[in-house]
Amino acid sequence: MIRVGKWITLPQEKAEVGGVSFQTGTLSTGEVVAGVMEPDREEDILPLFRKRFFLKKPLKKAALELSACGLYRLFVNGKRISYGLFDPGFTDYGSRTQIQVYDLTEILKKENLLELEAAGGWALAGLLGSGQHFFHDEICVIGELTLTYSDGSEEIIGTDSSFTVFRSQVRMSSVYNGEIIDESAEPEFLGFARETKVPTTLVPQGKAPVLEQERLPVKALLKDSSGRILVDFGQNLAGYAEIRVSGKKSDRVCLRHGEVLDGKGDLYIKNLRTAKQKMTYILGRDGENILKPHFTVQGFRYLLLEDFPGEASPERFTAVAVYTDMKRTGFFSCGNEKINRLFSCILWNQRSNFLEVPTDCPQRDERLGWLGDAQAFCRSAAFNYDVESFYRNWLIDVRSGQHADGFVPAIAPYNPKGYPFRASAAWGDAVTMIPWELYLQYGDISCLEEAFDSMRRWVEYQRSSGPEEYLWLDGSHYGDWLALDGPDPRKPKTDKDFIASAYYYHSADLLVRAGKLLGKDVSEYENLAVNIRRAFRERFLSGGLPKTDTYAASALLLTFGLLEKEENARVAAHLAGLVEENGNCLMAGVVGAPLLLHALSENGYAAKAYDLLLEEKVPSWLGMLRYGATTLWERLDTYTDEGIKDIRNASFNHCVFGAVLDWMTGCAGGLQASEKGPGYRVFTWRPLPEERLGKLSLTFESRQGTIRASWQIQGDRVSYRLLFPKGVRAEITLPGKETLEDCSGTFSAELPYIKE
Ligand code: BGC
Repeated sequence: MIRVGKWITLPQEKAEVGGVSFQTGTLSTGEVVAGVMEPDREEDILPLFRKRFFLKKPLKKAALELSACGLYRLFVNGKRISYGLFDPGFTDYGSRTQIQVYDLTEILKKENLLELEAAGGWALAGLLGSGQHFFHDEICVIGELTLTYSDGSEEIIGTDSSFTVFRSQVRMSSVYNGEIIDESAEPEFLGFARETKVPTTLVPQGKAPVLEQERLPVKALLKDSSGRILVDFGQNLAGYAEIRVSGKKSDRVCLRHGEVLDGKGDLYIKNLRTAKQKMTYILGRDGENILKPHFTVQGFRYLLLEDFPGEASPERFTAVAVYTDMKRTGFFSCGNEKINRLFSCILWNQRSNFLEVPTDCPQRDERLGWLGDAQAFCRSAAFNYDVESFYRNWLIDVRSGQHADGFVPAIAPYNPKGYPFRASAAWGDAVTMIPWELYLQYGDISCLEEAFDSMRRWVEYQRSSGPEEYLWLDGSHYGDWLALDGPDPRKPKTDKDFIASAYYYHSADLLVRAGKLLGKDVSEYENLAVNIRRAFRERFLSGGLPKTDTYAASALLLTFGLLEKEENARVAAHLAGLVEENGNCLMAGVVGAPLLLHALSENGYAAKAYDLLLEEKVPSWLGMLRYGATTLWERLDTYTDEGIKDIRNASFNHCVFGAVLDWMTGCAGGLQASEKGPGYRVFTWRPLPEERLGKLSLTFESRQGTIRASWQIQGDRVSYRLLFPKGVRAEITLPGKETLEDCSGTFSAELPYIKE
């Protein structure tokens, strides 16, 4: 913990850094708010803090603790030491800011130069709707170096007004707009650091840092309609371009980033809304310069070279994917190439949206931790990567944003100065659903312990909302957001009271389950759940079917336990009929789409679930691939033969529809965590072989060890194979067979292929 270091900032009061403008703009939700935009600035003054110091005696240990209000890069004796690209991270700064610790024992010499380059990052950004800096008005750093000498004595060098401040070569740095880096500029001395205060609490780092990950070469060099060069990396991603430029000192390089090309073959940027996604560099020397941003990433597949000295040959460009370091755990492949491409899209959605917090999208002027998206994609995410610490770290900020009355804002980190985001059903329910899912996946009950109070307060909020205790009526919800089942996807067809009350029941049910595991008396909430379910059924069912006749409504009934067992068949048949009527198209959004295929396949309609998965007409999952998707989109019809019709919700990189991965691995592939032994101490294997896929195999690195599961159809037979850690209990249900238990670590069978 930092004991003597002080927060320091630029010498002059209120320096011009990372300002925001006060314009009016329209959110994708349709609401008009002030200050959605960061202006296109060229002349900010960003600090480079410096401190020279000497070792007085032989050194035993040197440990540097560091944090910032903004972002920092640490250099010691000219060498880059910090490796996290977005440290100290994106948290609810009003409540906590993380500290990183560096061991400098091997690095320090007799005389040393410590340098901290800093930028505003999220803390000073004009995040959606705030109209002002997200957290604070000044870029600050804090830290202290503890030197332990061989004789046991200790010396502490803390940040204070003895640090000098120079103007950094970064002339502008913005979350959304990119950066201007002038490598030709000599460091300009601004004065001594000013000691200041930052209203935050410093805490240890909660998860792995953001690092450079995959590196992609150029797929093609193209020309736009005015003859400018476009670099195509063949993959939509979040990160940056690392470029090698040959030019003269002071030459200018300017790159624009975008996800798609329009009908004329020009870079399409309207869907970025106010985000500029522009990198500008001024070369620092004659000859070869290797360049990349310092504190920003963009969402892109294409680069437009607005200014580029020298020859733009393909080997001069590399796209670098940048996201939180997580262990890859899940691998999927099947006999249908389109479904394999769908898997790849979803994997890249995750890589693009797991930078510090689970974001909705990585490109436009949003890139925020929307709870609904994070909740919908959580289980799928936990297949691809080990996301436990990533989500748990973010949940701390979700909870610190929760109001005293239990209201959970739809975004975290939440900006209390900004637009008062709604406590929407399916968004706020992330506080119950994500901890529960993490418990199932990783088996650590402390995750529920940490969450329990917030889960309870959320259920109480739902209970106190609206005119009736056992229903959630008249709330302000996003509903089945972007479902294409009505005239306006922002006003989808499913009754919002139906959705809200269903989630109210689901959260109450999870609260009871969590409470029982934690040994708490939850009898009050058991009664509450019973009452909600009864009230729900009375209000929203008619003759055993939902009054609101949509995919989402039936899917909620079938997956949230709102029906009696004997009613399931009727609702499932009804849903299957509805899907048939709609030509197997996907008429569901954030609420319905993640649940839909489960609702069908778990109630006897596996073939119908496959029909939906394999449909190629728009709207559908594969429909996006027909139009060239390399990551799934925000709207299923973002790009069609008619071009792009809605620039407000035209992200080409949204995780939500990728929630279908959970069905691909958990139902088609059959592998699911079990409440009987969370963390894969017990798991279920109930595969659903299907000839349109031919074969399917999964490899999953569970916390207990590797699980490999596969099926393959050959003629009229299916061979099944399962390998798993010895001692782990597999509950295996093959089509048409009774469930059997196996702890031996290997299982195989060959059975007739049963068509539904
Ligand atoms: C985001 C969504 C989010 C939604 C709320 C959008 O602008 O991109 O993914 O959940 O707003 O409805």
